[in-house]
Amino acid sequence: MRIILFTGKGGVGKTTLSAATGAYLSELGKKVLVVSVDPAHSLSDVLEEDVGPEPKKIFNNFYAQEIDVYYSIEKFWGVLKEYLKSLLKWQGIDEILAEEMSVLPGMEEVSSFLWINKHVEDKKFDVIIVDSAPTGETLRFLSLPDAASWWVTKILPLQRKLMKFVRPAARVVTDMPLPEEETYDALEDLFRQVYNLYYLLQNQEVSSVRLVVNPEKMVIKETEKAFTYLHLFGFPVDGIFINRVAEEESPFYEIQRKYVERIVKSFEPTPIFMIPQLYEEILGYEKLKEFGKRVYQKKNPADIFYKDKPFEILEKNGEYILKLALKEIPQEELEVYQKDEDLIIKIGNHKRHFFLPRILLNKEIKGAVIKENFLEIGFS
Ligand SMILES: Nc1ncnc2c1ncn2[C@@H]1O[C@H](COP(=O)(O)OP(=O)(O)OP(=O)(O)O)[C@@H](O)[C@H]1O
Ligand SMILES: [Mg+2]
Repeated sequence: MRIILFTGKGGVGKTTLSAATGAYLSELGKKVLVVSVDPAHSLSDVLEEDVGPEPKKIFNNFYAQEIDVYYSIEKFWGVLKEYLKSLLKWQGIDEILAEEMSVLPGMEEVSSFLWINKHVEDKKFDVIIVDSAPTGETLRFLSLPDAASWWVTKILPLQRKLMKFVRPAARVVTDMPLPEEETYDALEDLFRQVYNLYYLLQNQEVSSVRLVVNPEKMVIKETEKAFTYLHLFGFPVDGIFINRVAEEESPFYEIQRKYVERIVKSFEPTPIFMIPQLYEEILGYEKLKEFGKRVYQKKNPADIFYKDKPFEILEKNGEYILKLALKEIPQEELEVYQKDEDLIIKIGNHKRHFFLPRILLNKEIKGAVIKENFLEIGFS
């Protein structure tokens, strides 16, 4: 069982690569589902087939699904949403507004992703490929459960116990809708599912995030940021897919070269896949399958391409060490400095960009040393 999630800035090729990876894997004999959780679906367009809100067979072992957010909210949050709605209505908020307000922030994103859980439990597919929304939204979703966990572990059990005693008495003094046992059951079940989902997505034996990037300045910056945060939150990235790389004969080749180089340096040692710019449409199963073959060359797309941590942040007595993995040990002089949100590491001709998480942003760089296969940078 494998879950492969594609993300990246808008328009970089996420849907095309998700579908191509799926088509090629199904050709290799795997039963594959490509599922789009991006509310702006384009899987149907890329596959040139109608794709519905339930998994649909496209070709032999190859299935696709475009998740319907509203349907999913009802499915996974229905009971809780009804309770919130009754509470809002009791406060005098009218029906239409109550319906809108009963959808809590994050519910939409989480609902779409909960389908993954269901598919994993159903065990119908060998590989689930997730075509996700652009990095900003995907990161917002991935950082949600920290807040949710507080609710589940602290508030929920307490309130539930309390309610058992309070409910009969409260009934007498107020007609405010009180959460029923059923509401709590639904809520607990939901949180269990959410936990399970995050557990799956953070398990590197099961899940891999693949970042799609184009050799363009603004795209790279957003991808570097996503890379830092994905690892901080514990979601394993096993490949960087540089899409739309110009051929040597192309007038864009020279312009792109420095960006391609920056990507290769900044994401090492995460494996890099170079994907050429094509001059034809990549639509329909056959074309996608051929494209997939080209992307992965001799590799199997279901493999886990990288398992180590590309960086770690260690804290000791208020001082921090950023530990970055290096592929080759450079012998030249080392220079490390901060430029806006970027940490720039220069070793001879080698220049690496690292997007600094907030905790290191306003700290001073104390020094940098190379230790075996790591570069250790001190902050305080
Ligand atoms: N290597 C390539 N060569 C030529 N065209 C490509 C290549 N990769 C993607 N495209 C084309 O670029 C366009 C955008 O690709 P795609 O829809 O896969 O991006 P996306 O990241 O899913 O976009 P969105 O963020 O809007 O969902 C499509 O028309 C697709 O066919
Ligand atoms: Mg897309």
